[in-house]
Amino acid sequence: MPRTTTSEYTRRRLIKRTLLASAGLSARMWAETQNANSDVRIAVIGFNSKGAGHIQSLLKIKGVRIVALCDVDSAVMDKQVALLKGRNIEVKKYSDYRKLVEDPEIDAVTIATPNHTHTVIALAALAAGKHVYVEKPVCHNLHEGAMLVEAGKKVSGKLILQHGMQRRSDPGWNAAEAYLKTGAIGKTVLSRAMNFRARQSIGTVAGPVSPPATVDYNLWCGPREMAPVMREQFHYDWHWQWAYGNGDIGNNGPHQLDVARRALGNPVELPLRVISFGRRWGYTDNGQTPNNQFALFDYGKDVAPLLFDNRGLPRADMNWQKGWEPDYKGVRIGNVYHCEGGYIAESKAYDLDGKWNGVKFPLNDGSEHMSNFIASIRSGKQIHDNLDISHGFQAAALAHMANISYRIGREASVDVVRERVSGNALALETVGNFVTNLAANKIDLTAAPPVLGPFLEFNPRTLKFEGEFAVEANAIAESDTYRKGFELSMVS
Ligand SMILES: NC(=O)c1ccc[n+]([C@@H]2O[C@H](COP(=O)([O-])OP(=O)(O)OC[C@H]3O[C@@H](n4cnc5c(N)ncnc54)[C@H](O)[C@@H]3O)[C@@H](O)[C@H]2O)c1
Repeated sequence: MPRTTTSEYTRRRLIKRTLLASAGLSARMWAETQNANSDVRIAVIGFNSKGAGHIQSLLKIKGVRIVALCDVDSAVMDKQVALLKGRNIEVKKYSDYRKLVEDPEIDAVTIATPNHTHTVIALAALAAGKHVYVEKPVCHNLHEGAMLVEAGKKVSGKLILQHGMQRRSDPGWNAAEAYLKTGAIGKTVLSRAMNFRARQSIGTVAGPVSPPATVDYNLWCGPREMAPVMREQFHYDWHWQWAYGNGDIGNNGPHQLDVARRALGNPVELPLRVISFGRRWGYTDNGQTPNNQFALFDYGKDVAPLLFDNRGLPRADMNWQKGWEPDYKGVRIGNVYHCEGGYIAESKAYDLDGKWNGVKFPLNDGSEHMSNFIASIRSGKQIHDNLDISHGFQAAALAHMANISYRIGREASVDVVRERVSGNALALETVGNFVTNLAANKIDLTAAPPVLGPFLEFNPRTLKFEGEFAVEANAIAESDTYRKGFELSMVS
């Protein structure tokens, strides 16, 4: 379990929140006691970029009132407050989520802060009796995710806890999943998730830099130690530093990993084995996470494997003007479901020769996801299983598992990588394409070989790694720390 500290202060806060949660049946009762026309009073937490999108989505939903905003950067706050003022909307301003969640005039929160604070804030809000919409990845480690799922069960019937993976509200993916179930193109043999998204260097600072003067860095760090800032761009680029982000597999990855799970019948348990390799190739900068990463998840004999392929370099010559890396079956960021008698690549189904079989799925990127959250609040229960936090946990957990294999990896030749996945022809083909893209960018794999993690054995019941690499793997899985005052709240 990650290290947590408990203090008298924390205990008192927990008791207070537990009381609030049980009294705050405000929420469940919301559906029962409020007039059907009552507004849902909502607060958005973190809105430099994605959270600004939350605000825009919420403004379009009838019967929703944005009553408060919370951000630790006063410049970000001032910008949104001014925008809302322009629409005659006055909001309360918070920089500390712990104060916001105790505001009785807020029914629900949406969270779009950096990854390391998602679960911490979500649990605090639930414990205080608020409905929660939390961005992906819903957790920064496996333990947090398990706590969220548990909390979701505890508040079920009282509060809504929804993940932010909008493709779960996409009619196109619902249709694709239903089509697979008809057996028209046979069983899934491999579910492929891809994120081919070229990322440039984030630069290198000579030494620690000051956070922007407008940022309350203590609150930004939240549970993490207040470590010196080691990146040029303060916002967003935390994605590539392990204490806060989870690399692209934990950034765009949860969307595609989640869609990939649908082709496997939405397994309720995590895989039994995982292997990952990759590296941060092409530049040296303050980023720690790999920019190219491959992962293969083994669910055992009854469920097809899941493959994740992340490419972060351009098409060729490290030249971003030449466009992004070559697509795979027409897809760069998205999914391919490989089946016995054909495949689905994003919005269309094909036969094994790659000929479109006339079946099309109406993908719309889940534009109703936020309004589904509000509809669930209004109806007093989740309006669709797809919205359940367990999907958020599963997708995030896949990213965390792969990252743990990668992080205990060692440099290895491409031949060793090939040998490790040789049991799966599609995985082997992917390694070939992966290496071809590196070669097109003139990456010298002798000087910078792949970092290859071991096949880790995982027990989905205990959420612990087992076997030969268990000690190292579990140590990384449990390495997140929680500062006093920012512990994970208990929800009862
Ligand atoms: N669902 C999607 O399609 C989608 C798309 C983009 C981003 N996201 C997710 O949204 C999150 C935010 O991404 P971003 O690109 O906006 O990041 P960002 O770094 O640009 O913005 C984060 C904002 O949160 C604020 N913040 C940080 N800690 C806070 C705290 N404790 N309390 C309140 N505010 C705090 C920051 O000041 C900043 O304004 C990420 O976790 C990302 O994975 C989801």
